[in-house]
Amino acid sequence: MIIKLISNYEDIIDRKDIADLLGTLLFNPTYGKIQNIAQAVYAKTQGRFYIAMDSNLLIGLMGFSKIDNDKLVVRHMAVTPGHNRQKVAQALLDYAIVSEKVSIVKSEPDDSNISFYKSYGFDVKKRPYDDIVGQKYDCSFNVKE
Ligand SMILES: CC(C)(COP(=O)(O)OP(=O)(O)OC[C@H]1O[C@@H](n2cnc3c(N)ncnc32)[C@H](O)[C@@H]1OP(=O)(O)O)[C@@H](O)C(=O)NCCC(=O)NCCS
Repeated sequence: MIIKLISNYEDIIDRKDIADLLGTLLFNPTYGKIQNIAQAVYAKTQGRFYIAMDSNLLIGLMGFSKIDNDKLVVRHMAVTPGHNRQKVAQALLDYAIVSEKVSIVKSEPDDSNISFYKSYGFDVKKRPYDDIVGQKYDCSFNVKE
């Protein structure tokens, strides 16, 4: 597995493999929605987008906003179905933490991916249930602890 930073946000729109995997995270994904995300999140100086490749095949992605130079906020995370439970997400997060030299990672997952954050060692706080967004959690990982 190779992990690399996508430094040009246009690759997120132009590369079909990346756009398709990012689209799996969206309700009714369209080219326009993916373009909006790429521009609104990853074209900014805070945007950080990492991909995992295996034998030239995209197998995972993780996108962040970097805040105050020492914090990453997870914005998008997806692993291709055939590669689940093979530590792809774990490797992406490990790599991002080291290369961004951050001390805190935050995320606001739901029930679909909370297990990953618990397993990684995030401190997890359950939010009150919300009828619109469902069950969400506030997760925080202190790198130095
Ligand atoms: C959530 C997701 C990114 C995890 O990626 P992954 O590469 O499969 O996760 P890893 O292999 O690194 O998992 C590490 C540990 O997290 C936990 N974990 C991960 N996925 C889990 C699952 N579906 N159920 C229970 N525990 C899980 C396990 O403890 C796992 O270790 P183990 O396999 O040795 O038990 C992936 O399942 C995914 O893309 N899901 C669909 C999209 C999604 O929900 N994205 C989040 C929206 S922001």
